[in-house]
Amino acid sequence: MAFSEKFIDDLVARNDIVDVVSGYVRLSKRSGANQFGLCPFHSEKTPSFSVNQEKQIYHCFGCGKGGSVINFIMEIENLGYRDAVAFLARRAGMTMPEEQNDAESRKRVRMLALNKDAARFFYEQLATPAGKRAGDYMAQRRISPATARNFGIGYAPDSWDSLEKAMRQKGYTDFELADAGLVRRGKSGGFYDTFRNRLMFPVIDVRGNVIGFSGRILGDGEPKYMNSPETLVFNKSRNLFALNLAKKSKSGYIILSEGNIDVVSLHQAGFDSAVASLGTSLTPEQARLLSRYTNQVIIAYDNDGAGLKASQRAITILEKLDVKVKVLRLTGAKDPDEFIKAKGPEAFRKLLEGSENQVDYRLRGVTEKYDLSVDEQKVEFLKEATELVARLPGLVERQVYAMRVASLAGVAEELITQEVERRRKRLVNRAYREEERRQTQPERQSQPPEKELRYDDPVSARAEEGMIRLLSLEPELGARPGLPEAERFSSPALARIYGVLRGRIARHESVSGASLGEELSGAEMSLLVRIQQEPVDFGKGDRALQDYIKIIQDRCQQRTEKDAPLDLRALAERQREKGKRYE
Ligand code: GTP
Ligand code: MN
Repeated sequence: MAFSEKFIDDLVARNDIVDVVSGYVRLSKRSGANQFGLCPFHSEKTPSFSVNQEKQIYHCFGCGKGGSVINFIMEIENLGYRDAVAFLARRAGMTMPEEQNDAESRKRVRMLALNKDAARFFYEQLATPAGKRAGDYMAQRRISPATARNFGIGYAPDSWDSLEKAMRQKGYTDFELADAGLVRRGKSGGFYDTFRNRLMFPVIDVRGNVIGFSGRILGDGEPKYMNSPETLVFNKSRNLFALNLAKKSKSGYIILSEGNIDVVSLHQAGFDSAVASLGTSLTPEQARLLSRYTNQVIIAYDNDGAGLKASQRAITILEKLDVKVKVLRLTGAKDPDEFIKAKGPEAFRKLLEGSENQVDYRLRGVTEKYDLSVDEQKVEFLKEATELVARLPGLVERQVYAMRVASLAGVAEELITQEVERRRKRLVNRAYREEERRQTQPERQSQPPEKELRYDDPVSARAEEGMIRLLSLEPELGARPGLPEAERFSSPALARIYGVLRGRIARHESVSGASLGEELSGAEMSLLVRIQQEPVDFGKGDRALQDYIKIIQDRCQQRTEKDAPLDLRALAERQREKGKRYE
């Protein structure tokens, strides 16, 4: 365990959850013990995000997220557990406890130092005779020495062990190099440099740590890029290339492009807010990270089918976070780098200023699908376009775009406006019905919102939830004999939570504190908080416990028997028992 329970308790006590949350969310409504505000983790119009000062937890009834003040900071600041704790410690003016005996954190610190040394090594190679090839390639791509310095671009020599040797000399071991993804183990057991004869782009996080590398081949060839593997400090889906620079930009927006070279070229041309996702299409974590720094993203992906598809996906993800999205239309160039080289920064700035908003962009997508001079196609176009406009939240917005659609199709404006509002009504009604159904069908409501946590056996899961609720309220029950093993649980997530609770009870550790966040994932923590929110019949603990045990054991047996041959006697036995209960 990395932090003592006492430290975490202190930390939580000195960072009152209402204070902390209020820095991000306006808590305006009060109902009972809860204060409500608009959820920062999903977009909504009526507050379903609640904070309970007494319990020091938050919970969103809309998206299901919840946890302690530490989970809140992890989620909203996009930090890991350790960093969130450090964040709150700083906020409360506390000093972090000594972490000397924490193996993982020592490894992390060491890997970051190694990465920094490796980046320096690669950079220094540019000045050597061997590095001339990289210099020539940069000149050919018109990357200036000043830009190379700004990004820390370097060169991995065309050799099997030059990095390995240099780092060994600095005191790092081959195993440390391998863990960082900088060397690989060959068939004969030796180690060789991962990156050879490549232009090296360090990936630097927002705190300034070198967390990994992208290496581009000099010229043509396969694979064009090699990236560091996932390591203790490098997670591709949670970081963006050049965000460390872009976050300082005064432009008010962030330009999202695909390639490292595009980013470098954009910065060099004065567009200092360009970033790229690391070889994947934008992930929700990256989007959340972006939304911490800006509320407007301009997408400048490559001008091809893949770029178009990736743009659509990015729009959907960013919209959910209330980030305004515009899409650049790069005409006559395959990517921003080529565009700037062919037409100059001024032309790119014009493009930025005139970039389409997301509605225009989508409408254009629909328009381009159909030939409007053919009647049948025009009908299809109108269906799709009016549906799109009907989904816009503002009335004025809907009217403006209805007019646009009318003029595109050459149809009377009122007709389109009417059609849009008719569809709008239908959408709203459907949403209401859906909401009603959710309220009246507890079975469905009781499923966790996270897809990966869905219950296969809701009957057993409900008992498992009950067990967890009881244990977190009355930990002494955890010492009772006859409690089922976690393997008997139907839901892996509930089994995990149950296992963690029992382990902590056995070690006489707290089961309600924020320190649980270290052992449970964010989704598991949210699930636990949701379970704890449900009312419990106090005093009936023991009875309820016996009921839960029985259900869990029975359901587990049924599940195993489903695959096993039918045992008639056992079946008859169970029938009899069942009958008894209703006598
Ligand atoms: P050029 O403009 O062709 O010099 O390259 P670029 O930096 O603009 O990259 P490109 O648009 O071709 O690719 C976009 C991103 O996808 C790159 O920055 C890489 O992160 C990733 N990528 C491209 N090719 C590869 C590859 O072969 N392997 C891996 N792992 N990633 C790649
Ligand atoms: Mn490119």
